[in-house]
Amino acid sequence: MVSNEPEEKAGDGLFQLMLEAESVLTQLLTLNSPAPSDSIVQKLSAHEIQDMQHHVMPDEHPRDLTSVLQQAMTVFDNRMRLNHPNCFSYMPACPSSLAHLGDLLTSLCNVNAVSWDVSSGPSAVEKAMIAWLGAQLGLPESVGGCFVSGGSMANMAAIIAARDEILHPTQRRDAVIYISDQTHISILKALHMTGFMEYQVHKMPTDDEFRIDVDVLQRTINADRKSGLVPFLLVASCGSTNTGSIDPLHALADIARDEGLWLHVDGAYGASIALSDKHRYLVDGISRADSVSWDGHKWLFQTYGCGIVLTRHVGSLLRSFAVDAEYINSVSAPQGNTNFYNLGPELSRPARAMSLWLTVKTLGRRRMGEMIDQGFLLAHTADHNIRQYKNWTIAAPTVASIVVFRYAPRGLGEEDLDALNKAISQRLLAENVASILTTKIRGRTTLRMCTMNPLARTETIEDLIFQVDKLAQSEHHKIFPKIAKVPHTLCQECPGIEVFEDVH
Ligand SMILES: Cc1ncc(COP(=O)(O)O)c(C=O)c1O
Repeated sequence: MVSNEPEEKAGDGLFQLMLEAESVLTQLLTLNSPAPSDSIVQKLSAHEIQDMQHHVMPDEHPRDLTSVLQQAMTVFDNRMRLNHPNCFSYMPACPSSLAHLGDLLTSLCNVNAVSWDVSSGPSAVEKAMIAWLGAQLGLPESVGGCFVSGGSMANMAAIIAARDEILHPTQRRDAVIYISDQTHISILKALHMTGFMEYQVHKMPTDDEFRIDVDVLQRTINADRKSGLVPFLLVASCGSTNTGSIDPLHALADIARDEGLWLHVDGAYGASIALSDKHRYLVDGISRADSVSWDGHKWLFQTYGCGIVLTRHVGSLLRSFAVDAEYINSVSAPQGNTNFYNLGPELSRPARAMSLWLTVKTLGRRRMGEMIDQGFLLAHTADHNIRQYKNWTIAAPTVASIVVFRYAPRGLGEEDLDALNKAISQRLLAENVASILTTKIRGRTTLRMCTMNPLARTETIEDLIFQVDKLAQSEHHKIFPKIAKVPHTLCQECPGIEVFEDVH
């Protein structure tokens, strides 16, 4: 008699493994939809970091997968949940489940999207997505570009293309780049990495709407030319990180055209507005850019790192990035195409276009646009509600999905208000009410909310602003009890504490 015992055992083991896998999968699926009561942030102390580093260290011995996975979950528990419904800090990535699905497929197929020989299917999708994204911005059909890891790399690729296109190598020392006081730090980082010195970067002031001052810019260019400098690159923000402001793109395109400058538009956050039927007009003029950076992991609902660099001068990317070697000579691109390793800084890279394609192809452009509109609605709801409460100021016009606001009760100096707003932000997070971090607007500490989660509802925002106001009043009384004494009125919520009449 042939015993079936081994099979039964194997079957038992398999069944057990399936149960474990199922339980892990169930846990994983909940990661994408944190409940309001879940922690927005969980952070290791310095001591716990040391402890964790000790425990996660691999050694000579194998471990069972379940325990390692459990450890991985503990590791990931210690993070800011950027897709938490009450997380409004940074540019809170809120990936669509479709993006996760696209990622999973991409990871399982593990394509090296370096060249057409190795990745003809995903390269065709990348080419199609570059054309589609370019068309959304109104760039010409000849648009080229590639997917990179994020906005920083997209900005750097564009700066390199501009440098090599416009400047003779002997001019690099005298070259000048124009940015504004709202330009993202990644531009400065890229300029540094590409060999430009700080003195070559001329930072223009911005107006009351945090848009680059075009008159000052023109005067500075004139003066620079008179001094023998070589203006060559103008960087516009299409959705600045601080306030969401959008530079006057047409006016900048006019200057770039007249002065022979390369116009790079940093649209890492704001280029997505072009997908919205309602709000597209705000980015009018982006079609005139020489290059644009755009992030899928910001307002296109992708996971990290999905960045895109687009340019109307695809030949310039090629000139800057094309390389050759005997071991890659044989890799050929079909007629009219270029291997992607010749259009950007990387060689081996994942097929980053796939998950964005899967998302857009499934949802369609219009639905994506509506998801972006929801971000506008939430931010304008926040803006409107903040204005209903006493002692709040809106620090910059709410243009897109970013609101900057400051609690400014009378009787406190600017520095005390800075401290108060910082304390409000910290307490909101400590009490798990919301992650609303601070930024500096014209040098003053200000609360900043970025509302990009398409699943969030306006009622949640209304309720949140109510809570923020209550917490702000209480924090005011807590840290400035003495100042809050004149003129004598008793606070209802904090018995024994005397406050200004207009505090509530
Ligand atoms: C306007 C802007 N540009 C560029 C970047 C850099 O993008 P990444 O973090 O994807 O490198 C950011 C990031 O927040 C940004 O807000």
